[in-house]
Amino acid sequence: MANRLTVNTDITKGTINRNIYGHFSEHLGRCIYEGLWVGEDSPIPNTNGIRNDVVAALKEMKIPVLRWPGGCFADEYHWKDGIGPKETRKRMINTHWGGVVENNHFGTHEFMMLCAMLECEPYINGNVGSGTVQEMSEWVEYLTFEGVSPMAELRKENGREEPWKVKYFGVGNENWGCGGNMRPEYYADLYRQFQTYVRNYGDNKIHKVACGPNVDDYNWMEAVMKNAHQFMDSITLHYYTIPGDFWTGKGAATGFPDAEFTGTLKKAFYMEELITKHTAIMDQYDPEKRVGLLVDEWGTWYDVEPGTNPGFLYQQNTIRDALIAGISLNIFNQHCDRVQMANIAQLVNVLQSVILTEGEKMILTPTYHVFNMFKVHQDAQLLDIHLSSEELGSGKEAYPQLSVSASKNDAGQIHISICNLDHLTGTNMELDLRGLMGSQVTVKGTTLTSDTTDGHNTFDNPDRVAPSEFTSFSLEDTMLTLELPAMSVTVLELTAE
Ligand code: AHR
Repeated sequence: MANRLTVNTDITKGTINRNIYGHFSEHLGRCIYEGLWVGEDSPIPNTNGIRNDVVAALKEMKIPVLRWPGGCFADEYHWKDGIGPKETRKRMINTHWGGVVENNHFGTHEFMMLCAMLECEPYINGNVGSGTVQEMSEWVEYLTFEGVSPMAELRKENGREEPWKVKYFGVGNENWGCGGNMRPEYYADLYRQFQTYVRNYGDNKIHKVACGPNVDDYNWMEAVMKNAHQFMDSITLHYYTIPGDFWTGKGAATGFPDAEFTGTLKKAFYMEELITKHTAIMDQYDPEKRVGLLVDEWGTWYDVEPGTNPGFLYQQNTIRDALIAGISLNIFNQHCDRVQMANIAQLVNVLQSVILTEGEKMILTPTYHVFNMFKVHQDAQLLDIHLSSEELGSGKEAYPQLSVSASKNDAGQIHISICNLDHLTGTNMELDLRGLMGSQVTVKGTTLTSDTTDGHNTFDNPDRVAPSEFTSFSLEDTMLTLELPAMSVTVLELTAE
């Protein structure tokens, strides 16, 4: 079978929500502290304590939404510890992540300031596991209430006169695990109770997010949808791609054998099955697809880099991660009728990060480049495609050689994102661009590849894996032929006149 793609350029299938390109930042390792927040007195160039280099890179990538403060940390976080003068904020041990001191210098005001600097939506995750209904309710009041109230007064005392706008609010995180080890029926009842007091003040309308399942826990999805779907705007799904086994050895981020490269790509495709099956359950209770599925934690999870704190989850990022980002984002795009948001874990220095820092140095990872290349899909219309792809591997280990999605933006430009997952050879691909007959089509392309399966950027060699112009194509009428490099992510831009 040849590699062939039909793109129906005049058949659209819904809007690709820009929040599919979202991110997640937890009080974990060096994500918040060092990665984002260095403090006002730091020699590292910053604005009100937040790193300028990281903000500039994230704005360039058009980060649309940022989730905070966890993760598991969310269900241990008491937001009042993180407001007021920094010198009087509580110091505590981050028991979940590395046992280090959390000085609470980065709290509500700092997070909201960061989102304003990034021009992205805040997505705040409240505490159900160890918090109270009152605590959650008061956080929303503190953030968004405009009138006279104890929390609005407290906010003003802390220097913020105007309420903020907060759209996305999560009611608990992983409540089947670190968020309280609950049964789904119990969580569904708690969700109903807690969300009652997550109020809409003034014209601030909160999009309420319920905690959804871990991976293939279809029973959790079924029970929470059955008992609480009418009280939620979205429900979450968490799935991490782990080459080995979570408890006995996840596998290294670099220096892995070829079989681990292919095995990890195969596991990334599991996201397709998970979304399809969870969507089928959601469809029973929400056939009109009002409730969104938010994949608000996804990405690769490896053994930590040798010599680093095991609780900090610091890992390198290679072309393998870039391909997995490409596979996953293409899957989310294709499911944009249900997937309204996705948040890769995590933003800086933790798991599949787009940015790594070391002191004042910063590098962009291969995953960053994929997000930057794919940003053209944000808010565009998904196009109907039909893909015939060769297979790699055999039997149960087989997976498609290609991963693709396509969209059309408001200006009528078409973007096609293509991953060639074969690490051994480049491949030819034919694209039949239906609906463009008689148009003058201009093609531009960008590609990301590497000469080794673990090609990555370091602080000494920050541009080893970087995008370059893609010119290996020819166009005859509406038939576009590509020569894709081995293990590459390519984004094409087609302008038809
Ligand atoms: O992203 C790391 C952790 O993974 C999060 O804190 C938790 O929600 C998940 O188990």
